[in-house]
Amino acid sequence: MSDPAAATVIDATNPLAAGLEADRHSPPLALVVFGASGDLASRKIFPALASLSRRRALSSTFAVIGVARSPLTDEQFRDHVLESAPDGGPEWKSIVGHFRYIAGDYAHPDTFDQLKVQLSELDDRVGTAGNRMYYLATIPALFGEVAKALGQHDLSRPKSDDTFIRLVIEKPYGRNLESATELDQAVHEAFDEDQIYRIDHYMGKETVQNVLALRFANATFEPIWNRRYIDHIQITVAESLGVEHRGGFYETAGALRDIVQNHVMQVLALTLMEPPATIDSQGIRDEKVKALRAVEVFTPELVASEVVRAQYEAGWVEGREVPGYREEEGVDPHSTTETFVAMRLLVDNWRWAGVPVYVRTGKRLPKRVTEVAMQFQRVPHLPFAGSLAEGLEPNTIVLRVQPDEGITFRFGAMVPGHTFQVRTVSMDFSYASAFLEQPLDAYERLLLDAMVGDSTLFIRTDEVDQAWRIVDPVLESWAAGHPPLSGYQAGTWGPKEASQLLERNGRQWRKP
Ligand code: BG6
Repeated sequence: MSDPAAATVIDATNPLAAGLEADRHSPPLALVVFGASGDLASRKIFPALASLSRRRALSSTFAVIGVARSPLTDEQFRDHVLESAPDGGPEWKSIVGHFRYIAGDYAHPDTFDQLKVQLSELDDRVGTAGNRMYYLATIPALFGEVAKALGQHDLSRPKSDDTFIRLVIEKPYGRNLESATELDQAVHEAFDEDQIYRIDHYMGKETVQNVLALRFANATFEPIWNRRYIDHIQITVAESLGVEHRGGFYETAGALRDIVQNHVMQVLALTLMEPPATIDSQGIRDEKVKALRAVEVFTPELVASEVVRAQYEAGWVEGREVPGYREEEGVDPHSTTETFVAMRLLVDNWRWAGVPVYVRTGKRLPKRVTEVAMQFQRVPHLPFAGSLAEGLEPNTIVLRVQPDEGITFRFGAMVPGHTFQVRTVSMDFSYASAFLEQPLDAYERLLLDAMVGDSTLFIRTDEVDQAWRIVDPVLESWAAGHPPLSGYQAGTWGPKEASQLLERNGRQWRKP
């Protein structure tokens, strides 16, 4: 957390001295949240709005209309927002005073007729100026239906050139390439691509964006960021939590759809991509798509040898005894849903040919950590005799996405003493101590981006397609039962098959 005394010392040089995001503000806007009584709205969307209000980034002509099936009055909805997000600064209560609620069925035209009336009332009374942003935070099966209904009720196109209408869509975007394409067709019946903001909250994490800063704002790293120097890449997205109260949802998703198809693919694309000419929505997304397109497609044989799926069994995590996945609330006692995936990807392009990318993600692992580790090749010859360099690891750059956001460089250094002994040491950059600020919450960042019309960090339709192209063959092999599901004890780093994936090539997973 910020240390006020230190902050005065760095005042002159810290670009954040005036506060994060002080220079961007929402325009007049009506935000319509579909699924407003749900988990995502109360855990992420309302707290992000409250935080924007605290930073004075919300216009006084900003309002929310919540839409959901639960029977709430406007007053009850406002109370619900304030309970989920109490900490919005001095203006928050009066901003929430403009919020309204529509209890309705998405399949019923009445719901959208009411919405139309309420939106135009907000334009007149609050000054939302005809600008609308729809946020689809419902269950994914309803995304297409709601988008179409907005079109049918003439709610999807702006009425003039100086107003805007945008659609924010949560993940998962489809269940495979085919259903993602169908969803896209449904959404495009009502909205143009430049109105659509597909959210992947990992792109809103500042340390994920920092991959771009590290690579493209420094002369040091880019020349060695390729097959000539890198031995392999490891991407870890580990969670110590289980499925909590989302067993029902998770049963329909699994780790591959929940994390790999979206969060991992985004981090992967930023790590592998070529330098864009400009950091803007087209520049970045064009390069990300090119990088994903180069990822080799899995054949059934490759799925069998290079992909591991597993499910957690009872165990101990962070000192607490926890049940197995099949004992969790809402989970089928015979479930074969994977809670862990490890895989080796290959990238068929000039920069990365022959450099394996190892990915692992899972629930109920020993700790919460997301990182990208670039492991360099070993030196061609170690001139230190015998045991003097024992245990020396290859150089590694670790980009820590969370927690303790930062970058670590691991390299060999001389141990003090009379012999020429070397050991691995770390050089660390930490966000918290360099900028004396915690990074912005991902949802807060992305909501404000969507409000001001910056789509750089949102996912374009061709990126979604490429991610499914990589993941689909794995889903197909699994549906046919190959390879079988393994088990791992909660609180461990996954099944033995995950370690074997690297060990057979003389490599090892890092211990984050
Ligand atoms: C979500 C997944 O997209 O990401 C969750 O649906 C997961 O299952 C979450 O827990 C992880 O996000 P974070 O920001 O905590 O790493």
